[in-house]
Amino acid sequence: MEKIIIAIDGYSSTGKSTVARQLANYLNYIYVDSGAMYRAVALFALQNNFLSKDHFDKDLLLSSLPAIKIEFKKENTMDHANIYLNGKNVEKEIRTMYVSDFVSPIATVSEVRKKLVSIQHQMGIKKGIVMDGRDIGTVVFPDAELKIFMTANTHVRTLRRYNELIEKGQKVSYDEIFKNVQKRDLMDTTRVDSPLLKANDAIEVDNSETNREDQFHIILQLAKDRIAKRI
Ligand code: CDP
Repeated sequence: MEKIIIAIDGYSSTGKSTVARQLANYLNYIYVDSGAMYRAVALFALQNNFLSKDHFDKDLLLSSLPAIKIEFKKENTMDHANIYLNGKNVEKEIRTMYVSDFVSPIATVSEVRKKLVSIQHQMGIKKGIVMDGRDIGTVVFPDAELKIFMTANTHVRTLRRYNELIEKGQKVSYDEIFKNVQKRDLMDTTRVDSPLLKANDAIEVDNSETNREDQFHIILQLAKDRIAKRI
């Protein structure tokens, strides 16, 4: 059967990754978390002291860009691929609040976007891919056969992220996550290069009151219809 590209964009913590992963597993497609790539670049900048609370040396980051190697690797024991930064598995580290606080400024840098978008294009060359992020339906794959734009109210999103991080054993407060989610939404929607916006042909899904299973079935049906060219 013909394979398609599924682009899932939306605000922070709307459950994009969850549904993207479910779809990829079901359809036997590749899943790519583009946010993880921006997080990995932010981690690199933090580790090399190019970035801190009151300082960002953009020139140093730019001159180091060619030395940043980002890959996804999946081992048999894993249910999804992990992200590697210069050969090191950084899947856990990139999900901390420490990185969340610095990722959106890094994502405003056009040279960073250019590098990551080029890797993303490469991964989609054979189609059969579900990618989630902020600019997938608008910039990375403007011709994607199915585009979903996910939204949910900010309190629901904060609570989801809070529970997720607490489950992973991280010490976080509802309040700091609420602030981080709001701050990233603002930066992501107002940046000049590739801001988060709904593509004209994207289908909007508000999942404030939908559970993961129902949401999965709604979006899976859309994907099946697109694959069979019914819609
Ligand atoms: O999972 P969560 O919603 O917290 O965010 P993410 O998908 O891991 O993305 C982290 C950050 O990377 C976002 O807040 C954006 O600033 C940036 N990003 C982007 O600019 N473009 C993408 N395609 C994906 C993420």
